Amino acid sequence: MRKNIVAGNWKMNKKFDEADELVDSIMTKLEETKLGDNTLMIICPPFPYLEMCSDYSNDSYFEVGAQNVNDNEKGAYTGEVSAEMLESMDIPYCIVGHSERRAYYGETDATVARKVDQLLQHDIKPIVCCGEVLEEREAGKQFDVVKRQITDGLFHLSAEQFANVIIAYEPVWAIGTGKTATPQQAQEIHAYIRGLIAEKYGKAVADETSILYGGSCKPSNAKELFANPDVDGGLIGGASLQADDFINIALAF
Ligand code: 13P
Repeated sequence: MRKNIVAGNWKMNKKFDEADELVDSIMTKLEETKLGDNTLMIICPPFPYLEMCSDYSNDSYFEVGAQNVNDNEKGAYTGEVSAEMLESMDIPYCIVGHSERRAYYGETDATVARKVDQLLQHDIKPIVCCGEVLEEREAGKQFDVVKRQITDGLFHLSAEQFANVIIAYEPVWAIGTGKTATPQQAQEIHAYIRGLIAEKYGKAVADETSILYGGSCKPSNAKELFANPDVDGGLIGGASLQADDFINIALAF
């Protein structure tokens, strides 16, 4: 059975002591309130806090993920972080192709494909983001956009490799805007994505792939979003910066 996943993307937020306090508070709450057996929590802090979060995650209440990785193996890429480095720190997950990386750092589907390859070569599971911008949604092009992103970013993988991939559908118009996709909109596109995976890799692989929703997901709307058969959890931005909100989202399954 595929996992229910709630992943927190902290983006570029929190000073070190605030980050430490947040994880500590999440840990304390998780000790009091057990998540469902099939629920996996992943915390994706900024790079400098990975080790601190990893130390907390040793108690196995949650897993840790990076927010980005470079698409080269190693070498003269000042300021960048490689999959090999993440692997050497036992970081099991990494977000790839977030719309903010695509919009501000020129990442393309080809970049995403190379990053995914780097991660898989180093036994790190990619959380691959896709999703349309508002103009594309208004023009009814969301299915075409997502199909291109998934096909060009992921469909070069073998079925065996693809089994390690988590997908996050994040409509860009819903990110940080307070405007959430309706449960129907989320279900419709998640089912479409699962259909694409089934066409390419077969139903068994598609059925095992966790597809997360991201974009203004909060405790107040998580339940109705996660109740959909093809919505397997969330990639949470703003609400993952508050321990109570994040835990309550994880309890919404
Ligand atoms: P918000 O939850 O703040 O809308 O962000 C979603 C997101 O981009 C997670 O990656």
